[in-house]
Amino acid sequence: MSSRTVIRGGLVITASDEIHADVLIEDGRIAALAASGTPAAEAFTAERSEMGAPPPEGWGRIIDATGKYVIPGGVDAHTHMEMPFGGTFAADTFETGTRAAAWGGTTTIVDFAVQSVGRTLREGLDAWHDKAEGNCAIDYAFHMIVSDVNPETLKEMDLLIEEGVTSFKQFMAYPGVFYSDDGQILRAMQRSAENGGLIMMHAENGIAIDVLVEQALARGERDPRYHGEVRKALLEAEATHRAIRLAQVAGAPLYVVHVSAQEALAELARARDEGLNVFGETCPQYLFLSTDNLAEPDFEGAKYVCSTPLRPKEHQAALWKGLRTNDLQVVSTDHCPFCFSGQKELGRGDFSKIPNGMPGVENRMDLLHQAVVDGHISRRRWIEIACATPARMFGMYPKKGTIAPGADADVVIYDPHAEQIMSADTHHMNVDYSAYEGKRTTGRVETVLSRGEPVITEREYTGRAGHGVYTPRSTCQYLN
Ligand code: URP
Ligand code: ZN
Ligand code: ZN
Repeated sequence: MSSRTVIRGGLVITASDEIHADVLIEDGRIAALAASGTPAAEAFTAERSEMGAPPPEGWGRIIDATGKYVIPGGVDAHTHMEMPFGGTFAADTFETGTRAAAWGGTTTIVDFAVQSVGRTLREGLDAWHDKAEGNCAIDYAFHMIVSDVNPETLKEMDLLIEEGVTSFKQFMAYPGVFYSDDGQILRAMQRSAENGGLIMMHAENGIAIDVLVEQALARGERDPRYHGEVRKALLEAEATHRAIRLAQVAGAPLYVVHVSAQEALAELARARDEGLNVFGETCPQYLFLSTDNLAEPDFEGAKYVCSTPLRPKEHQAALWKGLRTNDLQVVSTDHCPFCFSGQKELGRGDFSKIPNGMPGVENRMDLLHQAVVDGHISRRRWIEIACATPARMFGMYPKKGTIAPGADADVVIYDPHAEQIMSADTHHMNVDYSAYEGKRTTGRVETVLSRGEPVITEREYTGRAGHGVYTPRSTCQYLN
């Protein structure tokens, strides 16, 4: 297959620019951009053919993007493929999950390798490499979940950074599973202040939440909606505040994952106003869904059980504002799908046994485009929060997250006018429900290139498991 592609006539949108330009791709990378219709753009094909004539057979591929957007492939910095949780495993494998990601216009994921208590970081990371290698349709990288902070683990953090795993998630929630106490968190933060790593925090006060869970169950409150009631916004805000101050004491940067409560966002905004290196991510489920979904009858609310939990609708406006004002910088999915049948059902009669997590890796780019249509964010901000900033936050820019000479040719041709209805009947994630069943959106992925190779071609899957490769990362590019 030829290694040369020209994308003609589209509107190229990056985090910084919108230009009508043709894009030349050579050997998997962006080689050049030139304003459409100019001699410079004509020259992309002219050197191999008569001016204006179609290029000769075998020359390469020309993609007509007239009337379409040409955008960088999405970077989803928060996924959990095959993650063990609550006695089961997230239903998407790296094969099914990365294929679904591609269908949704995402060309890079950063998944979380897991250190189990009593095991080393190395064992956890090796296990995740084994799951992913040879199976991915798109490129992938890893964060590391640190569940067991001890002197050996702290030393291992330095080694992982050298291998391109430069961010470490800690949990203030889930006592007895992933939980770290304040001392363990402080030690990991002190280490990251020295080695350049970035601590990613699941900020919920899990010790207090477990008390409220026990009390709720004792009162007979067993339905999914109580998951949202015990995991209180104030307990997210309190943990967010504590994480910020621990990071400040350690002199370390901090990235707070899956922010859902406006009170937690206020803590982030205050810290940023103070000049601290504190960053925040939210997810589409917190922008488009609410406690109304958790309260759906007949145990349907279990489909929406995730942590941090969905919040009352009023929080959504604060999150959109945070995205506009850059108090929140990234939208990731926290894709962690469990089938309703057989998995979510483990918690029938006891909400605390419902596996936490929701599907979404296929939906993020479309939902955020809908946010453009709805007037919440601009087109360039869409690309910034979904492509460029996650790439820069996690040390992959400009290889990923933009369309510029030298970047990997991870490119999506996006039809901004196509209408779609989200549904489990048509999605490609390996899960038996859609969190957005029946939702109408405007805009749809048409063609996806990963390092110049077509993964989706005019809405046909043309990729292959094993095309995607491990992508080592540098440290957070907002700090240097
Ligand atoms: O409910 C969630 N978010 N499940 C995935 C694990 C996590 O905390 O990110
Ligand atoms: Zn989490
Ligand atoms: Zn997560």
